[in-house]
Amino acid sequence: MSNKLIQQEVGKRRTFAIISHPDAGKTTITEKVLLHGHLLQQAGTVKGRGSGQHAKSDWMEMEKERGISVTTSVMQFPYNECLVNLLDTPGHEDFSEDTYRTLTAVDSCLMVIDAAKGVEDRTRKLMEVTRLRDTPIITFMNKLDRDIRDPMELLDEVENELNIMCAPISWPIGCGKSFKGVYHLHRDETILYHSGLGHTIQEVRIIKGLDNPALDSAVGSDLAQQLREELELVRGASNEFDEELFLSGELTPVFFGTALGNFGVDHMLDGLTKWAPAPKPRQSSERLVEATEDNFSGFVFKIQANMDPKHRDRIAFMRVVSGQYTQGMKMKHVRIGKTVSISDAVTFMAGDRERAEEAFAGDIIGLHNHGTIQIGDTFTQGEELKFTGIPNFAPEMFRRIRLKDPLKQKQLLKGLVQLSEEGAVQVFRPLENNDLIVGAVGVLQFEVVVGRLKSEYNVEAIYEAVNVATARWVYCNDAKKLDEFQRKCSFNLALDGGDNLTYIAPTMVNLNLSMERYPDVEFAKTREH
Ligand code: G4P
Repeated sequence: MSNKLIQQEVGKRRTFAIISHPDAGKTTITEKVLLHGHLLQQAGTVKGRGSGQHAKSDWMEMEKERGISVTTSVMQFPYNECLVNLLDTPGHEDFSEDTYRTLTAVDSCLMVIDAAKGVEDRTRKLMEVTRLRDTPIITFMNKLDRDIRDPMELLDEVENELNIMCAPISWPIGCGKSFKGVYHLHRDETILYHSGLGHTIQEVRIIKGLDNPALDSAVGSDLAQQLREELELVRGASNEFDEELFLSGELTPVFFGTALGNFGVDHMLDGLTKWAPAPKPRQSSERLVEATEDNFSGFVFKIQANMDPKHRDRIAFMRVVSGQYTQGMKMKHVRIGKTVSISDAVTFMAGDRERAEEAFAGDIIGLHNHGTIQIGDTFTQGEELKFTGIPNFAPEMFRRIRLKDPLKQKQLLKGLVQLSEEGAVQVFRPLENNDLIVGAVGVLQFEVVVGRLKSEYNVEAIYEAVNVATARWVYCNDAKKLDEFQRKCSFNLALDGGDNLTYIAPTMVNLNLSMERYPDVEFAKTREH
């Protein structure tokens, strides 16, 4: 294997995800990104609610009905000199766990903000997550074809609320009905906007220089004058782009545009391919693993069942951390200590699954999973190492699940364990009775589970209320103390889908009491895979 090839290929990769508040325009911008990546011939095929066409990345009936994307998918396309991997994150709040884990598999993020609204709740939360790894952030201020808030005020809000410096790369000329385009600060040119061409890649008119009289005649002398004055202020008051600060997650380049009008998305993509980092090294329990190492390694951040009804299988999504994957290669599945031959990994070209001939660090490949792969698993070319930092969150809602037909207990358990392997829900089996308790981070997951049990496992199940307020994974280094704790608290203990010991508390008061009573036992809110 030639290291030069690996270096070249890895250097081209840009792997990113979009973070935003629902309705800010993530789906629309994804569609336009794919249009620029020539993965879509015409925009309008990602999500055409009501038109009978649906997102290429959508696959479940439920998504179609609700018009939301509950799954993560991966899209790869060439842009400029780069090969871009866009990881789609579920937009609905209930699926935040999946979103968090997806953010562990990218090297940068695009933050989309509705410029009429400014910084919203979910963006705040997601930014906190990206902070854990100092992920570089690119910002797109969307919906300039509407009346937006004062751009300077928007930048201030991002700086103050998200604690990141803003460096505007483009600056809007008007907004709403009088949106004329943007001035690109780095290129010293005005790019003019035409409404109604959002479904295509437009031929744009460009005016060089800020003092060019052509600018006055194109946008009107009032707006041209306003732009010149604003830019003076912007240049004086805001930060200049600084690559180092961007790469350490302290400064974000800001672009203005409209995803619906497909305007400004290409400026953002130009910035992303130029500045966003190539695949970064990853921490493992043993050492830092560099992307350009010769040997292959990767970790699984998501498992998903039956993506395509024609392929009734489960796919484990693996981020390649280092080296190169080639078809048929042997990999060590570190957790179970087995070497497996992988001949049929898949790539994700805009939702169409294709067989991957080869992949490099930064890429995502899909492995067919027959139940042996779990979220967080590491694969290597023989080395004993384990990538860290892929979290599992304690669920906050609980229901007991019961069968309509009691003879199908075995299928029910199998279905639940497989669905919990995907990380979408968690299943708990109390030590002292035969209940099955499903725990989720959000309500929608309960519906998804019952829907999928029926369609994929042919089991009809219903929920009942159960007296569980919260769950914690428990650990204790002292075997004697753990034993005593287990005996005294057995009524509150259960095993999760991976047979890990869990404390299920009927009330928060009960949890707090137990934590006080057993100071040597750790009650963990997250479990690292
Ligand atoms: P999300 O994935 O972040 O939830 O947002 P999505 O792209 O679905 O966009 C939410 C709504 O905002 C959609 O309208 C979409 O058309 C609109 N939108 C996105 N970008 C822009 C933009 O640049 N300008 C304007 N004016 N609107 C934009 P909707 O009415 O909810 O849905 P639809 O019926 O248009 O599909």
